[in-house]
Amino acid sequence: MTPDAIARVKASYDTLARDALALSTRFYEEMFRAAPKLRPLFPADLLALQGHFEAALSLVVRNLQEMSVLAQPLRDLGAAHVGWGARPDDYLVAREALIAAIRSRSAAWDETLEQDWRAAITGIIVPMLEGAAVETAMAAERLASTLEAQPPRTLQAKPPSTLER
Ligand code: HEM
Repeated sequence: MTPDAIARVKASYDTLARDALALSTRFYEEMFRAAPKLRPLFPADLLALQGHFEAALSLVVRNLQEMSVLAQPLRDLGAAHVGWGARPDDYLVAREALIAAIRSRSAAWDETLEQDWRAAITGIIVPMLEGAAVETAMAAERLASTLEAQPPRTLQAKPPSTLER
């Protein structure tokens, strides 16, 4: 992202952060409207989770100029999301839901700001998906190593065939 785009996202978030709870409430509403099948993956009471989500978003926005610092924590978050049932396509649903929520809570909105936000959110999702991929690869490794740990199979004595008798 360019320094100008980062500045626009930060300025936009400053206004949104005055009511972060309203933003995250709208985000979950938009996401579950677009993909109702995701609702059962989440706890019935979303309030605690909303706090975590708001904190994560605010941390990312504050660090947009040096996202490399957050790459590993975001990979870890993505790895944890594998266990919660998040799949790659779901992240696009989440991205568009977040953009819709931000748009609905913004007084000023234009194509440039939408592109800026889409770039910022994509910058969150990419390391999360990388972390998910590593988590899945490690699960495959763990499974493969259980095969290697098994003792070599001993050859079974072959029953005499009728031809040999
Ligand atoms: C922009 C992308 C996303 C961000 C920044 C994000 C952020 C977070 C955060 C910060 C938490 C709380 C982690 C904790 O408690 O330690 C969380 C939990 C969770 N997220 Fe996401 N998330 C994203 C996308 C998704 C997607 C696409 C799904 C789709 C299924 C999802 C499903 C969940 C679930 C099920 C939980 C755990 C709920 C529980 O505590 O049982 N998230 N997310």
